[in-house]
Amino acid sequence: MKLWVDGGLHDAEAARVSVLDHGLTVGDGVFETLKAVDGRPFALDLHLDRLTRSARGLGLPDPDLDEVRRACAAVLEANPMALGRLRITYTGGLSPLGSDRGDAGPTLVVALGETRHRPDTTAVITVPWTRNERSALAGLKTTSYAENVVALARAHEQGASEALFANTVGQLCEGTGSNVFVVLDGQLHTPPLASGCLAGITRALTVEWTGAQETDLPLDVLQQADEIFLTSTLRDVQAVHRVDGRELPGAPGPVTAKAMRIFAERAAQM
Ligand SMILES: Cc1ncc(COP(=O)(O)O)c(C=O)c1O
Repeated sequence: MKLWVDGGLHDAEAARVSVLDHGLTVGDGVFETLKAVDGRPFALDLHLDRLTRSARGLGLPDPDLDEVRRACAAVLEANPMALGRLRITYTGGLSPLGSDRGDAGPTLVVALGETRHRPDTTAVITVPWTRNERSALAGLKTTSYAENVVALARAHEQGASEALFANTVGQLCEGTGSNVFVVLDGQLHTPPLASGCLAGITRALTVEWTGAQETDLPLDVLQQADEIFLTSTLRDVQAVHRVDGRELPGAPGPVTAKAMRIFAERAAQM
């Protein structure tokens, strides 16, 4: 496996960043995860836009997108695979200990891992911890993801693949690495960005292609919704067949099945 660091390709075993990198010491960094099908990255421009937005949100210099594109192309070419998870990480770089960022300049790493097509349906849980829609990091895809690590571990303990959060005012927000949609009276809804969720690229495409509405929803809508699905780069549109103790037999239901079909068709044309 070859990955990109320090401006070039390196063997994964030999690739190094400083142990004093601010991404490592305090989680001062941003990232993107892209799907690559047969070496072709999906929605690269949308991911690069979000990378820049996240970097600006942390006060990092804008990433050099020409370099990021070159790095993605080089890593994909060096590691051919059918379905890849392409990961761009961009951090505050070598810094003093503590929260002040150093001035050595940012670190860019691009890596790739092989992955498999997800199942069409999955189980989710809700967790008692909240997303803070008023956080300085709300809506940014930062490497400060330890809350997601804890919540996802809880989901796995309970036989689920994702954990869903409410925000500080009890509204449905998102999963550890996905957005959430619900069907109520035949109409598709997803929480608005003001709920504190990430502006998921799969979410945005799904809203555009299905006409889903952005609606403030209480967390317990999950107990009433006729259908529920998740969206993310590696899940695409994925139906939910169980949420906490509630079974949703027949998932994917008709609205979800249609969204899955539309997403697959439209994404293949991009
Ligand atoms: C917290 C969070 N929400 C939502 C998503 C879904 O975003 P996307 O569709 O861009 O993968 C992600 C990305 O993996 C995420 O980390």
